[in-house]
Amino acid sequence: MPTLLFINACVRGEDSRTLALAQQLLERIREANSLDMTFQIEEIRLSTEHMLPLNYERLKRRKELLAAGQTNDTMFDYANAVANADMLVIAAPYWDMSFPAVLKIFFELASVVGITFTYAEDGAPIGLTHARDMYYVTTSGAYIGDCNFGFDYADALCRLYGVENTHFVCAEGLDTEGADVVAILEKACSGEILNY
Ligand SMILES: Cc1cc2nc3c(=O)[nH]c(=O)nc-3n(C[C@H](O)[C@H](O)[C@H](O)COP(=O)(O)O)c2cc1C
Repeated sequence: MPTLLFINACVRGEDSRTLALAQQLLERIREANSLDMTFQIEEIRLSTEHMLPLNYERLKRRKELLAAGQTNDTMFDYANAVANADMLVIAAPYWDMSFPAVLKIFFELASVVGITFTYAEDGAPIGLTHARDMYYVTTSGAYIGDCNFGFDYADALCRLYGVENTHFVCAEGLDTEGADVVAILEKACSGEILNY
């Protein structure tokens, strides 16, 4: 059964509007694909994971493990999860013009040469994930405008991993005076969902 990896960076847990939007999207993906194919959804809830950013010691250990070919070490669990996924859904609120720091740590730990991507002899990157599609779900208090740095970064990195198609699902202006949050969230998830 194909795997949908749900990378949940919604720090406010069940209070999160981004999580509510992502759940609507997951439901729509399930409905759109249920006749042909059912995804097994594997969730990584970043705010309850014990993730540490790389420091010099951990960087050296990572290098040693890779040199020894030990790509199944637990240090590479996130990278292997991304590499083995058939679809990626990332949910992250719009924080400080991008996303919460836990997502950056996740990306740091998932970006491993030899697992999620590699390089050809001429230096061109080659993506190694099975996933062809990535959905990036976010909500913002005000309006994102030209400062869509969270999606732009996730988009570039997922393309490095080999993802061909990226989709942006967004509900904006949720903290503005008089915003109809339920209506904005519903509208945000009404776009076309691909059938795989
Ligand atoms: C730490 C923090 C940083 C934020 N930064 C921004 C921002 O730069 N621009 C913006 O429009 N909203 C910002 N917001 C508001 C959130 O984007 C908004 O409330 C969003 O809907 C929160 O998602 P959630 O309900 O999933 O937690 C920020 C909120 C927090 C808590």
